[in-house]
Amino acid sequence: MQKVFIDDGSTHVKMIWRDAEGEQHLSVTPNTFTAEHAPVHTGKEANYTVGKNKFSFSKGSSKTIPTTDTSFQYSEVNAVAIHHALHESGLTPQPVDIIVTLPLSEFYDQENNKNTQNIERKKENYKKSVKRTKRDEFTINSVTVLPESIPAGINIADTLSDGQSLLIIDIGGTTTNIGHIAPQLSEIYQQKCLADTGVSRIISAVKSYLSRNEEEMADITIHTILKKRNDRDYLESVFNDESNIDGLYDVIATASESLSETIFQTVKHFNKYTHVMLCGGGGALTKDSLRELTKIKSERFFVSENPQIDLVQGIETLG
Ligand SMILES: Nc1ncnc2c1ncn2[C@@H]1O[C@H](COP(=O)(O)OP(=O)(O)OP(=O)(O)O)[C@@H](O)[C@H]1O
Ligand SMILES: [Mg+2]
Repeated sequence: MQKVFIDDGSTHVKMIWRDAEGEQHLSVTPNTFTAEHAPVHTGKEANYTVGKNKFSFSKGSSKTIPTTDTSFQYSEVNAVAIHHALHESGLTPQPVDIIVTLPLSEFYDQENNKNTQNIERKKENYKKSVKRTKRDEFTINSVTVLPESIPAGINIADTLSDGQSLLIIDIGGTTTNIGHIAPQLSEIYQQKCLADTGVSRIISAVKSYLSRNEEEMADITIHTILKKRNDRDYLESVFNDESNIDGLYDVIATASESLSETIFQTVKHFNKYTHVMLCGGGGALTKDSLRELTKIKSERFFVSENPQIDLVQGIETLG
């Protein structure tokens, strides 16, 4: 059975599968869906039906269904987002075994035990059939649920020795998941999920700056601006007035520092850790300020080139 590794975050689905030659296929798809079918025009429309409910993937619409609440994890639009990512992944429709994620606050209960009720609820969510118009269907054969953030640190955890420990901070679009783990992932000491603490705060700041300067843009463009913030040519291609670009840098820097401050208010209550890893798209924006705040030496402070995909990579490593 084909295995598919999925970090189904609130803003983007990150997906990995391997073909018969062992080659890795990785995709990142945004969760921008509307509650209707798009008119069929080019034949490439991604229209989905779940029971009586209709969904359509839309890149530019301003009427997309909100996905930034925890309830998204158990919703039809989440199942649609996963089927959409499967259809776009290059796999041919077939039965698949999927590995998905839940935020730490959903995966564990107050006593740090696995919350089996939530895990079962998440599994139930993939039993419904999700049909894409004019395409064969993917069916979900089995579902494994893993916690957000922790699997991202598997490679670093493997290099730790006694007395060392790793703090993994997964800064997503909506939430920040923090896990403190022992060498070789042998124990989870502490974990915490901060709701409403994510890149959405930086996006709001950018949005209001753009609107003050009459430069309104689609959400998808704002995501790209954050990723390509150091690519002046790209910025010039989306701004009406180039003199607004310098101000954008200040807005991103100030909002990123403020997000780092908020995260650090929680981080400072964790027990002592020797290593830190940032992941999630927000890691790219907060690395300098969080390194300064945590005062961890740079050789023990890890942020990859593309932190948005670290968790799905870690999930695949775990198998
Ligand atoms: N390299 C990057 N530089 C700057 N921003 C980025 C980068 N990569 C991703 N982002 C932004 O980071 C945000 C969070 O992305 P990510 O995929 O980690 O969130 P998510 O998993 O969907 O959210 P959550 O974990 O809260 O459910 C997105 O808004 C994205 O635009
Ligand atoms: Mg995430």
